[in-house]
Amino acid sequence: MAADHTGGGPYADPHYDELPEGHFYDPDAEYEPDPEYAATLAPDAARQRRERIGPTGRPLPYFPIPGPVTEHGPAKIIAMCNQKGGVGKTTSTINLGAALAEYGRRVLLVDFDPQGALSVGLGVNPMELDLTVYNLLMERGMSPDEVLLKTAVAGMDLLPSNIDLSAAEVQLVSEVARESTLQRALQPLLPDYDFIIIDCQPSLGLLTVNALTAAHKVIVPLECEFFALRGVALLTETIEKVQERLNSDLELDGILATMYDSRTVHSREVLARVVEAFDDNVYHTVIGRTVRFPETTVAGEPITTYASNSVGAAAYRQLAREVLARCHAE
Ligand SMILES: Nc1ncnc2c1ncn2[C@@H]1O[C@H](COP(=O)(O)OP(=O)(O)O)[C@@H](O)[C@H]1O
Ligand SMILES: [Mg+2]
Repeated sequence: MAADHTGGGPYADPHYDELPEGHFYDPDAEYEPDPEYAATLAPDAARQRRERIGPTGRPLPYFPIPGPVTEHGPAKIIAMCNQKGGVGKTTSTINLGAALAEYGRRVLLVDFDPQGALSVGLGVNPMELDLTVYNLLMERGMSPDEVLLKTAVAGMDLLPSNIDLSAAEVQLVSEVARESTLQRALQPLLPDYDFIIIDCQPSLGLLTVNALTAAHKVIVPLECEFFALRGVALLTETIEKVQERLNSDLELDGILATMYDSRTVHSREVLARVVEAFDDNVYHTVIGRTVRFPETTVAGEPITTYASNSVGAAAYRQLAREVLARCHAE
């Protein structure tokens, strides 16, 4: 093994996620998976290869490369939701969106956090924006086209946000049908996109309830760390309440394990607990911990373009394929 994987924390080896050319984490691949890379995903690489056991401990199904689409829409709306901060919501929104766009899907990302991290992660300075998703929510007659920004990724647009959005949380309280304001605002955009992904703020407040009311599906990123499951019961309760009262179409699409480091027993144990608790609701795709993600925020672009051959890019491409496979299974 080229690198010393015995200690020093997840960032000890900065080249941890660099794959030799041609070695993607790709279930379609004709070649033998790179054993060193396989070792980063499962403790027993040989068994993983033989039985195609994925990092969640279940056999890894085949997620086909999605074929091209000739027509777009109506969009499936996905809320990326967890009231805990720092679990990978924004990172997953950007990179799942970019991977779906690479597969020819038209994607709209909605920054629904007043911190504007999604906008920053796509190279937009939120402080310089005159019009944001706030205006779309609060001003009658505002057309989405006035707020929409194109991103550097072909086929992927952004509804940006900034600190103005924090006022919406207060102002919406007195509105009629306050929980469905975002749903109404997104309605005219549905025919233009295949996926709309909403990056929620770390709370279960009115903005997040708006996102859940607008959505068809929820993705819950969970960091493979201590207390990963703490608070998840409250989140699933909130999802159930929205299902009962506001949006009977809402479904949990999946729990996404993020910042996984198979070199630590701890990370593997947390992942095992998550699978024990949520079974088939856990995506087979697991996002490893790599310093490449913080780097992409600085670069202001998705990992699929910033480090196209990295493990992180491959992981989000696989997630895109898994999400598409789940959609087609319906
Ligand atoms: N898989 C990962 N490996 C390492 N760092 C990550 C990973 N995913 C996200 N990060 C970093 O962790 C921090 C929090 O991630 P972020 O996506 O902003 O979480 P959230 O939106 O849930 O608050 C960011 O600095 C991000 O770059
Ligand atoms: Mg965020």
